[in-house]
Amino acid sequence: MERIPCENIVLHLLILLASLAFQLVSCARITTSSSRHEFPPGFVFGAGSSAYQIEGAAAEDGRTPSVWDTYAHEGKNMDKSTADVTADQYHKYKEDVKLMHDMGLDAYRFSISWSRLIPGGRGPINPKGLEYYNNLINELLKYEIDAHVTLNHFDLPQALEDEYEGTLSPRIIEDFTAYADVCFREFGDRVKYWITFNEPNIETVFGRDLGQFPPARCSLRSLCAKGNSSTEPYIAAHNILLSHAAAVQLYREKYQAAQRGQIGLTILAFWIENQTDSARDIAAAQRARDFHLGWFLDPLMYGDYPAVMRKNVGLDYHHLDQMNQNSLRGHLISLVLIITQ
Ligand SMILES: *[C@@H]1O[C@H](CO)[C@@H](O)[C@H](O)[C@H]1NC(C)=O
Ligand SMILES: *[C@@H]1O[C@H](CO)[C@@H](O)[C@H](O)[C@H]1NC(C)=O
Repeated sequence: MERIPCENIVLHLLILLASLAFQLVSCARITTSSSRHEFPPGFVFGAGSSAYQIEGAAAEDGRTPSVWDTYAHEGKNMDKSTADVTADQYHKYKEDVKLMHDMGLDAYRFSISWSRLIPGGRGPINPKGLEYYNNLINELLKYEIDAHVTLNHFDLPQALEDEYEGTLSPRIIEDFTAYADVCFREFGDRVKYWITFNEPNIETVFGRDLGQFPPARCSLRSLCAKGNSSTEPYIAAHNILLSHAAAVQLYREKYQAAQRGQIGLTILAFWIENQTDSARDIAAAQRARDFHLGWFLDPLMYGDYPAVMRKNVGLDYHHLDQMNQNSLRGHLISLVLIITQ
């Protein structure tokens, strides 16, 4: 039996995060047949998706565009595709859940489309959106499949991007927290695993450094009309961290005692090793790990960015809202999903 190397990465991260209760959904592709008994007790077998990639019904029942709709409709996907229809889970969720049941899955990780639930980004709830997610969650429960719900998987409402440039503005904190409040209140009786943001270390780099995800901003003017690769990824990440912390705090104070769920975030992780044992290579590997993982994990565990980031990033962090260490430290808490590929 051969396992793909991703498991080694997971092991490294398990060591890194040994003090945290840890659940890993999927990432266990095996090239030959094997059985569940080969996995540790409590290992969760699941499937994962994101709203924009799987729901379709992009303009139906009151949903408004997210930044991904805009990006796709501008023809920016390499194959010019959009997810207007995609796997059509919005209409086919019953079939999909039945398939998950037939596969023997324990969990389904999906995300809520913020602009389907709250079309303006803030304000009134869309009853059709509410009904859809209630139906999906209930269908999963019927088959005893746990819902792992991501609140924001790269698909910020376009309305908020237009109004204040989305995560570049600290205004996102209040709007994200209000949206999270609606989700906890409406679904938290049945949802016990919450993920605030999906892979913010990828979203910010691809969206605001490389210009290859919405909002397609970067410094290179031949590629991006707007943006600054030296500053914007870090400003956006900062606001995402504060939004995450605010939502976690809200969950802890208002919901956790009664709902008894867990909340965390996902980080896309790959491990970086020094190529030789020279001091230069060892420092380079550590620097890469700090910029890739420590960027999010350090503030949430220790209340501050890695020292090398404070030194090297072309941005005075003191000009941002104060890091407010107490509001961040400890907010990684009990659920961390490390997504490896
Ligand atoms: C990005 O911001 C930095 C710091 O303010 C500035 O020095 C640089 O010129 C900006 N780059 C672009 C492409 O605007
Ligand atoms: C990387 O650095 C460690 C010390 O931190 C050393 O033990 C190891 O041999 C190095 N790896 C390689 C491939 O040289």
